[in-house]
Amino acid sequence: MADRDPSLIIPASGAEAGAHPWWYGASIYQIYPRSFMDSNGDGIGDLPGITSKLDYVADLGVDAIWVSPFYTSPMLDFGYDVAEFRGVDPIFGTLEDFDALVARAHALGLKVIIDQVYSHCSMQHRWFAESRSSRDNPKADWFVWADPKPDGTPPNNWQSIFSGSAWQWDARRGQFYFHNFLPEQPDLNLHNPEVQDELLDVGRFWLDRGVDGFRVDAVLHFMHDPSLADNPPASDPDKMRARGHDFQDNIHNQGHPGIFKFLERVRGLTDEYGATFTVAEVGGTGARDFTKACAEGDKRLNSAYGFDFLYANKLTPELVCGALQDWPDTPGTGWPTWAFENHDAPRAVSRWDHGGHRDEFLRFKLALICALRGNIILYQGEELGLEQVDIPYELVQDPEALRNWPLTLSRDGARTPLPWTTQSEFGGFSESEPWLPVGETNLAQAIDRQSEDSTSLLNFAKQMINLRNAKPALRHGRIEDCTHQGDLLQLTREEGGQRMTWLFNFGTTEIAAGSTATLGEIVEAVNGATREKLPPFGALLLEG
Ligand code: BGC
Repeated sequence: MADRDPSLIIPASGAEAGAHPWWYGASIYQIYPRSFMDSNGDGIGDLPGITSKLDYVADLGVDAIWVSPFYTSPMLDFGYDVAEFRGVDPIFGTLEDFDALVARAHALGLKVIIDQVYSHCSMQHRWFAESRSSRDNPKADWFVWADPKPDGTPPNNWQSIFSGSAWQWDARRGQFYFHNFLPEQPDLNLHNPEVQDELLDVGRFWLDRGVDGFRVDAVLHFMHDPSLADNPPASDPDKMRARGHDFQDNIHNQGHPGIFKFLERVRGLTDEYGATFTVAEVGGTGARDFTKACAEGDKRLNSAYGFDFLYANKLTPELVCGALQDWPDTPGTGWPTWAFENHDAPRAVSRWDHGGHRDEFLRFKLALICALRGNIILYQGEELGLEQVDIPYELVQDPEALRNWPLTLSRDGARTPLPWTTQSEFGGFSESEPWLPVGETNLAQAIDRQSEDSTSLLNFAKQMINLRNAKPALRHGRIEDCTHQGDLLQLTREEGGQRMTWLFNFGTTEIAAGSTATLGEIVEAVNGATREKLPPFGALLLEG
């Protein structure tokens, strides 16, 4: 594979890059290890599989990879139920495999970001085994324990995000323990400074192994209200009501202000290691203020992950301008990170209506994400235009979907294996049947086929990422203007005198581009756009 064109690579360290650290405006590629590449033929992806394909990722032009959990785990929540924070699950390989992955990534100029799951762990973790053994052991207060009400029922009305009460009775200890997710994922008690110290030590373990940053999982759930007050009923009548959790305003079980002090400790740790990047995953559009607060000032995390696009049913100009305006370029406001897809959300091309203009829409949305101010995360397969695979009930793996079937959309459909080649039954992902089907439509979009086709989405994705890298105004410029009228969005970004304007047609009918003469020279025309007209999902980039 050809080396990356050095003229398109932004220097990696803050010092070399001048005013901006490497991650400022970076594009990050999310790897879901179970579904990226299987090297040992067991149908499940692994770390050596990732390492063997990192040249493909580097060739996209991205700055970093974010690798979802690969830690020791019973895999009830596919790795987000960690049983040993400093270990690699044998399904994925060994610590040496991880070191090799980091070394290869760094050799290719890719930074490595990993998940840190601090909100909860697996009930198989030795900490929980000790904590549940008595009420006075050294780890008795490492989880959130509470007595039942006098009638034997749970301490309050809090609901788990996955389903049912957030309290699970533990007969050994004769108390309930709190879990925001599965009962097998007890919540760690981050009000306890010892727990914080231990988790920071976990972070140090991975930083010492050379990682460049963390995606910090489920930050909203780090700390609860110790008064254990009941949550009030949901105040938003439009809220989707599939799970008990949706019937309440979840104000006491999550979002305690003490979380921000802990985030400052996380940042203090990562800053010791120089040019690192931390991004808070908060989740839910209802937590917008909390999300922003995670990245406020210069003591908390470097960025926070905006959820505006991940669960949106419709992609509109209003949505884009609204999301960007939430993060103004004012002192103290943090730096956003955007994603259209991830391992939790339905694939965007299946979620957003494209009125039959599928191919145009796929190019349009890649151009759009590369135009946003902030960091961007592309989820594996997004560069190929993968769709949500329809997983029949018998094959569903997602524990949340199994509990709420068929009312919540299974996350499995977005977690299917990456198709490397059209030439093999399982897309070259594995020699044996994968843990989830590849999906016929997605198989037809395999990497080998798209690599050879100069007009493919894959090649367009590379072009857009490299364009963003090459133009400072697109990579980290301020927003001079974000306006919309009907289906037309005009987004102007500026940096150091460079002014770039994107015009996007979000609709399926051709529209006039307006007066483009003053906006400069055409740099990019997507889907047949011209100075005069924007066809369905057409987009035009001008510099001047
Ligand atoms: C992860 C999910 C996971 C949940 C509980 C989320 O932030 O992205 O995949 O199920 O945390 O750990």
